Amino acid sequence: MRPISAPTPATRFRRLRRTAALRALSQETALTVGDLIWPLFVRDGAGVREPVASMPGVERLSVDLVVQAAERAAGLGIPAVCLFPYTDPALKTEACEEAWNPDNLANRAIRAIKAAVPEIAVMTDVALDPYNANGHDGLVRDGVILNDETIEALVRMALAQAEAGADILGPSDMMDGRIGALRAALEAAGHKDVAILSYAAKYASAFYGPFRDAVGASGALKGDKKTYQMNPANSDEALRLVERDLREGADMVMVKPGMPYLDICRRVKDAFGAPTYAYQVSGEYAMIRGAAERGWIDGEKAMMESLMGFKRAGCDGILTYFAPEAAAKLRAGWVWG
Ligand code: PBG
Repeated sequence: MRPISAPTPATRFRRLRRTAALRALSQETALTVGDLIWPLFVRDGAGVREPVASMPGVERLSVDLVVQAAERAAGLGIPAVCLFPYTDPALKTEACEEAWNPDNLANRAIRAIKAAVPEIAVMTDVALDPYNANGHDGLVRDGVILNDETIEALVRMALAQAEAGADILGPSDMMDGRIGALRAALEAAGHKDVAILSYAAKYASAFYGPFRDAVGASGALKGDKKTYQMNPANSDEALRLVERDLREGADMVMVKPGMPYLDICRRVKDAFGAPTYAYQVSGEYAMIRGAAERGWIDGEKAMMESLMGFKRAGCDGILTYFAPEAAAKLRAGWVWG
């Protein structure tokens, strides 16, 4: 007797898995170098590279070395880098004035990169946490994160970044109404072509831990970010946020973190068809690296598989600390199947 699970001749899926050629032909999704955005940590000084303990392989770089990294990225075909400053604790205040200093670290790095590698797109982070004495993304009064006052500060910060030459602004603060305010201010200041990649669906996540070490915000942070970042249990809310941010003038939208939220990526892409990005955040990077260092997983394969997952889920691009490594693998002709 034929077992009930035996394939019929019409349902032998293994036919197209038989050889590498057939697997390549039947591959549905592609990952290319053009899908990658490389986040970089900038610090003061010259010729300084400083490892980030919780992110093996990631370093904070002084501006001259960040420029070198951008050159390397451009050489690999990576279309964009995203800058995060590690700010001297002495410059952190409750009012966050350093955020809109035209000569702050981030703005100096933007100018230096645009001067040396004009073809690479420079993305920024628009949020107050690197400059805030209490580590929050917004201004704080009596323990409350202030929405509208924060937006005024974000507008100043964003204009300084646009003035420095940023191509893409990345508001990651999750205040309500910031996209509309930023878009109006950019138009009024003559920065009509500066793009906004909204961190539209940003969850209050434990996976940001290593990043907060990298930018030196962990020690400063008082409490958590749950009054402005999303509850990990919510999905419909992500669609409403994306809809709102697109209406207010975002050109591109992001889901963050990435791997635990691929369902959100897929819903966002299907619902809006807008340029959709995921941020494979610091904790996701650290998990893969950490397990690979211990020999528990094959780090290269896990890296590539995780990045393909974002494309399969509908993302147009991925912010990932693996960008240069993944780009090198792709250029060398990575075989998926
Ligand atoms: C904050 C910001 C965070 C990240 C990017 N921008 C951290 C946070 O919200 O606390 C996290 C990125 C990562 O973990 O890799 N403005």
